[in-house]
Amino acid sequence: MQTTAIKFERFQHSQDEECQQRIIAAKEKLGKKLVILGHHYQGEGVYRHADYTGDSLKLSRYAAEVDAQYIVFLGVHFMAEVADILSRPDQIAILPDLAAGCSMADMANLAKVERSYRELNKVLDFDETITPLTYINSAADLKAFCGEHGGIVCTSTNATKMLEWSFARREKVLFFPDQNLGRWSGHKMGIPLEQMPVWDPDQPMGGLTEEEIKNAKILLWKGHCAVHQMFRPQNIIKFRNEHPDGIVISHPEAPFEVCLQSDYVGSTEYILKTVREAPAGTRWLVGTELNLVNRLAEEMKPQGKTVQFMSHVVCECSTMARIDPQHLAWTLENLAEGNVVNQIKVPENEAKLAILALQRMLDAS
Ligand code: 13P
Ligand code: SF4
Repeated sequence: MQTTAIKFERFQHSQDEECQQRIIAAKEKLGKKLVILGHHYQGEGVYRHADYTGDSLKLSRYAAEVDAQYIVFLGVHFMAEVADILSRPDQIAILPDLAAGCSMADMANLAKVERSYRELNKVLDFDETITPLTYINSAADLKAFCGEHGGIVCTSTNATKMLEWSFARREKVLFFPDQNLGRWSGHKMGIPLEQMPVWDPDQPMGGLTEEEIKNAKILLWKGHCAVHQMFRPQNIIKFRNEHPDGIVISHPEAPFEVCLQSDYVGSTEYILKTVREAPAGTRWLVGTELNLVNRLAEEMKPQGKTVQFMSHVVCECSTMARIDPQHLAWTLENLAEGNVVNQIKVPENEAKLAILALQRMLDAS
């Protein structure tokens, strides 16, 4: 039965503790109709309510497999879009706060990608020579662009594999929006830095000469994650001086020099797995978002493992943090009353093309 939607104002000033009780009660009422997917960067106040947690790849697989009518995403906008695209048409993807975006994803948009396509077409035949490869941290219309132009999506787990997929088909890749992930993944394949120039979409011809474009293997879109950009090689040098037996692990969105100096580089899921499986008593410096690192540090304490955050500055993803207990309680109570709030619905024409690029990734990974 549907009633008038409860307004968020009624939850805005509620205490976290009260919201926790309300979330539990609404979840119970919704039962199997609801599944909550949570990204590792979410704060503890909502993360503890997730039925499944994971990195972007794992969560997109869950979205494609779960049976529930409502898929509530504790994450950011592009993740809920992927859940909508990969789930059945009768399932509903929901993002508790619509303002939870990803600033890196916003560094590329369709107008700029289409302009780049036109400009690159002046130098070479784009559809014959360049595979567009978008990081999953991008809007659905960019995934649709990749679907339409023989391209593919990647996550931080499978970026190298998706580059291999791309090079098996065409000689070059336009990689957007994260230059750091593109550079690190290309480097792992042995591509020299000179063949991975930065494509600046705000400059005519990306700021490159015709020769530079022709010589490139990967054109790296000028985009980055503001959170991971904070990590510096000096953080690693200081740590290694203080703890010569310490181990460094970073997310590939971190700057290239940080990845180069790390012992391990990988997705959020990979970071958790690697530290969890390490011998007791080891000491770790972790270069990724603060919520994940704090939670991991607590979890590892009983095993005598020390987990230290890479920066002295607080690097929290402020958009991920928008999903708080107040928004989750509001969303679930509305669902329990039969009111769908904050549904994420990708237009059908976009979804049809985006799923091509996503499915290519899921099949190849
Ligand atoms: P993962 O896929 O590694 O979880 O990364 C997602 C993300 O947004 C990292 O900033
Ligand atoms: Fe986007 Fe960076 Fe936040 Fe990940 S950490 S969601 S890339 S802004």
